[in-house]
Amino acid sequence: MISPILTVSQSDAPRSLAAALEDGAVLLFPDLDFPFSDFERRFVERPFADGKAKNVNIRGADAELRGAAGTPEEQEALRGLLVRYRAFAKGLVNRYLPDYIGRVNFAGTSYRPFDVDKRKLSWRRDDTRLHVDAFPSNPIGEKRILRVFRNINPSGQPRRWRVGEDFGSMAEKFLPRLPGYSPLSAKLLAALRITKARRSEYDHLMLHLHDALKQDEAYQASAPQADVNFLPGQTWVTFSDLVMHGAMGGQYMLEQTAYLPVAAQADPAKSPQRILAAKLGRPLQ
Ligand SMILES: [Fe+2]
Repeated sequence: MISPILTVSQSDAPRSLAAALEDGAVLLFPDLDFPFSDFERRFVERPFADGKAKNVNIRGADAELRGAAGTPEEQEALRGLLVRYRAFAKGLVNRYLPDYIGRVNFAGTSYRPFDVDKRKLSWRRDDTRLHVDAFPSNPIGEKRILRVFRNINPSGQPRRWRVGEDFGSMAEKFLPRLPGYSPLSAKLLAALRITKARRSEYDHLMLHLHDALKQDEAYQASAPQADVNFLPGQTWVTFSDLVMHGAMGGQYMLEQTAYLPVAAQADPAKSPQRILAAKLGRPLQ
C-alpha cells in the first residue's frame, strides 16, 4: 500500500489524527495561516544562508541561529520567524494530535532556502531517492521522528515529493539483506564519540535500511510510489522514520523536527521499532 495523503481543512470538525499518522499517512493542511511581515518577505526572495550547510536552523532552549547570512537585524528577524514557526508547529500538534501534548519534544527548526539538491551527490546523501530518515551520529532509540513542513515559495512553485509503499512491505524485502548488529561495535562507536549515544539495534537496522534503499536502483525505479505536490501555503506532517519519501524539487520551505517516545504513541505496535521486531520475531537489542 502507498502512503495515503489525508487532507484536513480548518473548517473540518477537529479530531485527533494520531491514528492516521501512526498508520503512515501524510497529513496535509491546505489552509493554515502563517503570515509573513513585509520585512520577512525578503527571506523568500533570496536565500539568507551562509552556504556552508544545506539549511539555516535554530536548536535548543536559547534558539541560537546557525548557518544564516544577512545584517544583524535580518538575522534576528529570521531567528524570530523560526521561533514563530516552532510555535505554529506546537499549535498544530495541540489541535490535531492532542494525544501527544506534553510528550513530544520539539527539536530543530529549519529554513530551507535552496532548491532541492539535484547535483550528482553521493547516493547516500541523495534525498531524491526514496528513503526513511535515519541519523548516523544521533541514535534515536525509542523515539519517533515527527516532522512539520511548510512550503513558503513566493512564486507558486510546489514542493515535489514521491511517497513509497508502507514500511512493513518495504522491511520485508530489505530486512534479510541487512548485516547483523554488533553490541560491541556499538559500544566502540559511542566510546570514540562517533555516535552521541549507544547505537541500538534499531538504529543499526534503520541506518542500513536507509542505505540499502537508496543504493537499490531497481527498487527506486519500480517500487510502488506516487508523486505528491505540496503547494505554497500548504503544511504537511508525517513520521519521516515510517513514511517512505523522496524530495524531488522545490525551493523555500520551513521544517520542524520533533521527537515522540514510542510509548507515547496511541498504538506503539505501529512504530517502526515494533514492526521490525515483529518481522524478526524477537525484541530488538
Ligand atoms: Fe528524508
